[in-house]
Amino acid sequence: MKQNIYDNPIFFNQYKALRQKQYNYNRLLEQPTMKSLLPPLANLQILDIGCGMGEFANYCIDHHAKHVTALDVSSNMLAIAKQEHSHPQIDYQLQAIEDYEVASNSFDCITSSLSLHYVKDFDAVIRQIAQKLRPNGIFIFSVEHPIATARHTLDDNWIYDENNNRLHYAVDHYQEEGLREQTWLVDGVVKYHRTIATMVNTLITHGLTIEKIVEPIPGKEAIQQLPSIEKELRRPSFLFIKAKK
Ligand SMILES: C[S@@+](CC[C@H](N)C(=O)[O-])C[C@H]1O[C@@H](n2cnc3c(N)ncnc32)[C@H](O)[C@@H]1O
Repeated sequence: MKQNIYDNPIFFNQYKALRQKQYNYNRLLEQPTMKSLLPPLANLQILDIGCGMGEFANYCIDHHAKHVTALDVSSNMLAIAKQEHSHPQIDYQLQAIEDYEVASNSFDCITSSLSLHYVKDFDAVIRQIAQKLRPNGIFIFSVEHPIATARHTLDDNWIYDENNNRLHYAVDHYQEEGLREQTWLVDGVVKYHRTIATMVNTLITHGLTIEKIVEPIPGKEAIQQLPSIEKELRRPSFLFIKAKK
């Protein structure tokens, strides 16, 4: 069964509050990295998987993409997307990526920010993505970094001294792929841990060529705006992979 935690009202309200903050990890780190990896968008047909509140779909249209199909499994997220970022060239669809059917070679660019760690069968989804991309099409995705999803107790991977200073970051069970249950905003949030090797090799198996891998670090300005983001200089929270068909 596919999880749809973003339709849990308590989770959703807290997530929305996080995203509305002037400075957060998405605005300062994740989205700038995603945008830096994009090809020129003019006239492209784009599929955005796990589109959330539609900000990125809107960005693509602002940058002259021809059309964006924006999928999300959460009706809460899509309600905000439609309210705030409706556009005749954006087609919002309430769909899990696992169930999305469309003709092969339909998209020039497929993107996904922080949604594929919710997907159980990564291999099946990547096979579909590779089919849906046109030749030379680009696939760019970010996930929570596997060093962050590896441990079975995900709530806080930092180890502190008696004065609450961060001593080091703990990674364990890295090679043990599969389900992880986390308390993040609410109890019982399910994510799937997989190694970097599995992700890269799955893309290669389905005929994609890796163009770039990024483990983003914040710049000085971001650290001034959100001092807690400085810990990204010690270990990455996100992993990005850009690949070409
Ligand atoms: C962390 S949010 C990111 C939203 C958006 N991409 C952004 O960066 O603002 C993850 C999104 O993925 C969606 N999602 C989770 N599992 C999904 C699935 N199997 N298919 C489609 N969307 C999914 C969630 O509902 C949620 O909106």
